[in-house]
Formats: sequence, C-alpha cells, structure tokens
Amino acid sequence: MTEYKRYLVTAALPYANGPVHIGHLAGVYVPADIYVRYLRMNKKDVVFVCGSDEHGVPITIKAMKENCSPQDIVDRYDAIIRKSFEEFGISFSNYSRTSHDLHTKVSSDFFKTLYDKGEFVEQMSEQYYDEEAQQFLADRYIVGTCPKCGAEGAYGDQCEKCGCTLSPEELINPVSKLSGSPLVKKQTKHWYLPLDKHEDFLRKWILEDHKEWKSNVYGQCKSWLDGGLHPRAVSRDLDWGVPLPLPNTEGKVLYVWFDAPIGYITSTQECTPDWEKYWKSEDTKLVHFIGKDNIVFHCIVFPVMLKVHGGYILPDNVPANEFLNLEGNKISTSKNWAVWLNEYLEDFKDQQDTLRYVLTANAPETKDNDFTWKDFQARNNNELVAILGNFVNRVVVLTQKYFAGKVPAKGELTDVDKQVLDAIAVAKENVSKNIENYRFRDALKDAMQLARVGNKYLTETEPWKLIKTDESRVATILNVCLQITANCGIIFEPFLPFSTAKIMKMMKLENAQWSDAGSCEIMPVGKEIGQAELMFRKIEDAEIDVQIKRLEEIKKALEAEEKKNAPVAPQKETIVYDDFAKMDIRIGTILAAERVPKTDKLMKLTVNVGIDTRTIVSGIAEHFTPEECVGRQVSVLVNLQPRTMKGIVSQGMILMAENADGTLHFIATDKKIKEGCSIS
Ligand code: 2FM
Ligand code: ZN
Repeated sequence: MTEYKRYLVTAALPYANGPVHIGHLAGVYVPADIYVRYLRMNKKDVVFVCGSDEHGVPITIKAMKENCSPQDIVDRYDAIIRKSFEEFGISFSNYSRTSHDLHTKVSSDFFKTLYDKGEFVEQMSEQYYDEEAQQFLADRYIVGTCPKCGAEGAYGDQCEKCGCTLSPEELINPVSKLSGSPLVKKQTKHWYLPLDKHEDFLRKWILEDHKEWKSNVYGQCKSWLDGGLHPRAVSRDLDWGVPLPLPNTEGKVLYVWFDAPIGYITSTQECTPDWEKYWKSEDTKLVHFIGKDNIVFHCIVFPVMLKVHGGYILPDNVPANEFLNLEGNKISTSKNWAVWLNEYLEDFKDQQDTLRYVLTANAPETKDNDFTWKDFQARNNNELVAILGNFVNRVVVLTQKYFAGKVPAKGELTDVDKQVLDAIAVAKENVSKNIENYRFRDALKDAMQLARVGNKYLTETEPWKLIKTDESRVATILNVCLQITANCGIIFEPFLPFSTAKIMKMMKLENAQWSDAGSCEIMPVGKEIGQAELMFRKIEDAEIDVQIKRLEEIKKALEAEEKKNAPVAPQKETIVYDDFAKMDIRIGTILAAERVPKTDKLMKLTVNVGIDTRTIVSGIAEHFTPEECVGRQVSVLVNLQPRTMKGIVSQGMILMAENADGTLHFIATDKKIKEGCSIS
C-alpha cells in the first residue's frame, strides 16, 4: 500500500447553465466536502479543487434562447453557483472557471503535448451544416419530429418529450435550430483520442488493480471495457470553447469533455505555485468525486489523457454516486423539477446543516435514492432536533445551572457510565473507517449513534431529579455528558460544520483536531463552558406543505404542457352505423349540482333530459363549481346502463370534450334547445 503524503481531491465541475440543486449536493459536493474536512482535521495536506464548467453546446443554446452571449450566461450562473457552495460550507481550496485565460493556456498546452506526441488520430467526416448560418451543427442544434413519439422539436441527440436517445438521421424533417433551413452535409476534420489503443492498460489498471472501487463504478467501467472502446473526437466545430491550438483550424474548439477535467489542473495551478507536487508525485492520493453520468470520463477518458501526456498521477479512487430523485421523479433542470439551493435558503434560512444532514443520511451511494420533504422534516425534527440538539442543549443548560458553567468532577463510575463512555472511542473509530472508505451514510449513522447514546443516558439518569439528593452523582453524569458533547462537536464536524462550530463555542474548544476525539478527558474538570445556543429548530407541517404544494403545481403545469403537445389520439376502429345508432344521446339541462362528499372528482347532477329528471354522477368536480353547472345545457347519453358510484345510482353520462391542456368542456348547442331532443 502506498503511504500518501498529500491529497488532491476534485469535485465535478458543474455546468454554468443553471443553479445547483440538491441532486448535485448529495451526489458530489457534500460527500467530497465531508472527506476533505475529515482529512484536514487529521492534519493532512489537502488541496480540494472545483470550478464552473463553462463550455459546451447547452450553454450556447441557452444564450441563443435568451438572446445574450454565452459569456453572459456563464457569468450569471457562475456567481449563483459559487455563492451556493459558499453558503453550504463546501470548503474548496479553490473554485475556478473554465473561461479563465489560464485555463485556455493549460488546456491548449495539454492538447499540444498530446498532438506533438502523435497521440491523436486525424480524421475527416461528414457533419451536418447550416449554409445560411454558415456553421456546422452539433446534434443539439438539429431539431425535427421524434420518430418514436411524434413530438415536434426533438433534438438531434434526444427527444425531451419521451426521453429517447436519437441521432440526427432518425429525426423526421430535420432542420437547423439556428435558421430553420434544411440540413446539408459537409466534410470536416477532427482529432480523435484512440481509446481502443489503451484498452489493455485500462483493463489492468481498473479491473485488476482497482477491484476496491465502488461496485457501481467498477461495474460501469467493466461494461464499457467489455463493449470495446472506440476513438473519441476531442474537437468540435463551434465558436464557444477553447480554440483548437493548431494552425488553420478556425471555428474549431476543444470538446468540452476534453477541457473540463483539465479544469482540475487549472484550478490547482490557481491555488498553489506548488501545484505539480499534487499532480505529479506518486505519493499524492488523487480522488475524483462525481455523479454516475461522469464515470466514463473520469475512469476511462481522463486517465488515458493523463497517461499519454506523461508525468501525471492517476486517480486512486473515483467514488461516484448514483442519482437522487425528488418525490419519486428524476430531478430535471429543464423541467424545473428540483430543489434549488439558492431557493432552499430563502425558505430555510440558516438551515444548511439540516440539508447537509438529510442528503448524507439519504445519499445515493449505491443506488438511486429519493428525497421527500416529509423525510426531510422527519429527519430534522426526530433526529437533529430531538436527539443531537436536545442532548447538547440539556447538557449545557444543566451544567450552567448546577455547576456555574464549569465541568464538574467525576465520582466513581457505574457500569452504565463506563459503557456510555466506551461509545466515544467506538464512534470515532467507526466514523473514521467509514469516511476513509467513502461510506458517508454509515459514517453519519455512527456519529448519530454517539448522540443517541448520550441523549438516552441523560434522559434515563434524570440528573434534574437527583440534584436535590445526590449532587456528586449529577456531577458524574454531567461530566460524562460533556465528554460526549465535545466529541460530537468533533466527529460531526465534517457533516455539520455550522452546528459543530456552535458546539465547539459552547464547549470553548478551539481548533480541535480529529486526534482529540475518542477521549473521555477532552473536557477537563473545572473548564468553563459557554452559554447554550440553539442548534436546530423544529420544522412545522405548514412549511413542508408549502414545498409540496410548489412541486404539485410544477407537476400540474408539466402535465398540462405535455398534454398540449401530445399528438391527437389516433382514430379508433371503424364501426357500423348500427353501433352508433344504439346510443341515445339527448339534450338536457342541469337543474341542480352538488359535490359528492369525500371525493375530489365527482359531482352529483340533477338533469332534465326531457324523458324525465334524473341523477347523473359525473367526474367534473375538479373543473367546475356546482354554481357553474346549474342552468347549463348539456349532451347526455341517456341509455347507458345505470351505475352506482359512492352509493348514488347514476343514470346516464354527460358528454364532455377534453382540451389538449387537460381542461374539460361541456358539449352544448349554439342555441337553447328543448330538453329531450336527440343528437344524431
Ligand atoms: O456533468 C457535468 O455536470 C459536467 N460539467 C462535469 C464535468 S466534471 C470535469 F470533468 F470537469
Ligand atoms: Zn419522443
């Protein structure tokens, strides 16, 4: 095993085309930050780098939509993202941007080195071209009708309606998104990294030498390798990105996935003049924190780039996470199905640690996981408030009250006291082991176990009852509790940096290190402590209802939008006239209407259909109030077999038209007509 002298930790560069959401935080930035905080507390030499990923087609498309420049877009989102990371305590050593001049130089030089070494294959290919805009078209710049679902405006790489993956050739009537003109094909030259040439190296390096990688990462790599690798183009015809540093290549840039990982190197260079020590010494441990969609780039493409360049180390581990869903659905920036970090803090001011806690407790470490607001509330109220916060608060308040804020001396220890104190070292060891193995959920559980033990001990020993009769026993109990509290202040720090700062302030312990944890003497007798400070506050049902309602509204709008764009249903099977003639459809007038109790959809209508006045139950209650129904003329299928709904016999059916947006409309004549007249 290599003994590492220093650590270089990277977190995936987020695209600067939108703010960051809980999925980003849970998948990449919180775990990376926990790991780094832990290393720093262990006095390790660590550099933790990240930055905004500011190139690529989605950014140029967004700019086009908003009629501004790509630089305007990335300036806007870089500022928002940067602020969110700061607010959530993600403790980067440096946060850079790929639009910085230094990055242009670093990535161009990297490309040149590979080029000069003959590591690329040059190849001409036919690409789609827009003659009016005089531009080659990335797949995203090509739009047409989806061959799978018939939706208009599907992209050349994907249909956003049905989610299928496409190639421009598959689109029906493909045109350029830029000018709407039809596509032509034109020859263009590109530079390819022949990944296939490096298969043997990759097979050994990953499949044999890194069997310890997380199974989701290892498995994905194995299936890429088993499927066979192909050369990958590292250049693009685009006017936004790092210009290709070769003569006569105007209009070509480095592919965003070539320059983005080099952004880690740029960010390290910005951070320290000693950057080479971190990138080029075998005794540096390099760890990439990413989401599962980035595995191939970090485990296959970037390592090949680093290896063929020469001089660089390769990652020791790539602890990629799976995805976090939101209330059962995939988080989606374009559909606004997300909890945005900047918005979260507007509603839950100063409650960063609650989100850090919930996202870690529920992290998608081995499989996709779901974030729900109810779980968020329950974890906050039942764990942070009821266990950790409640424990610390009671310990501080009681020490102030009974011992004038000074750590009291322990007397003789009972077996229970000893067991409780033993939990301190156990917790430290378990948390350490799990963090070192990238099992942050388990590590958090281990830390919480210590708070749980302390809280239970305090509740069960009831020092507030003993104080009148046995002050020395109370002194022992509070001494034990203070040791646990101070240890919680250390071992929770990587997870809950804001709240542990409060604990350490209350314990008056400054600059505590990881090595200070595990001790039962961390709070010496006579040491003064501070005043109690609120760590977590209860989250009320009403606050959660607001969030759930917001998501419901988004869902409704999405569904309406989907319906609006859905193709008209295909014609049904042909029928003979007699089939139609069997239906007795008549004009009726609604005389009375009332909602059916305990249902959302049903309305009980009293309708004069000419033949008689009858009761009809109709599923329109979400669309109309009873007042809006009364007096209306409607079309009624009167000879439909009666049906009982919620105990009411419904004699017929009101015919309704459903509009594309999902709204219902009565079918009536252009003029008032006598009830009972038939429709044929
Ligand atoms: O998937 C993404 O959000 C990419 N912007 C990640 C880039 S990671 C790295 F290579 F920079
Ligand atoms: Zn489709």
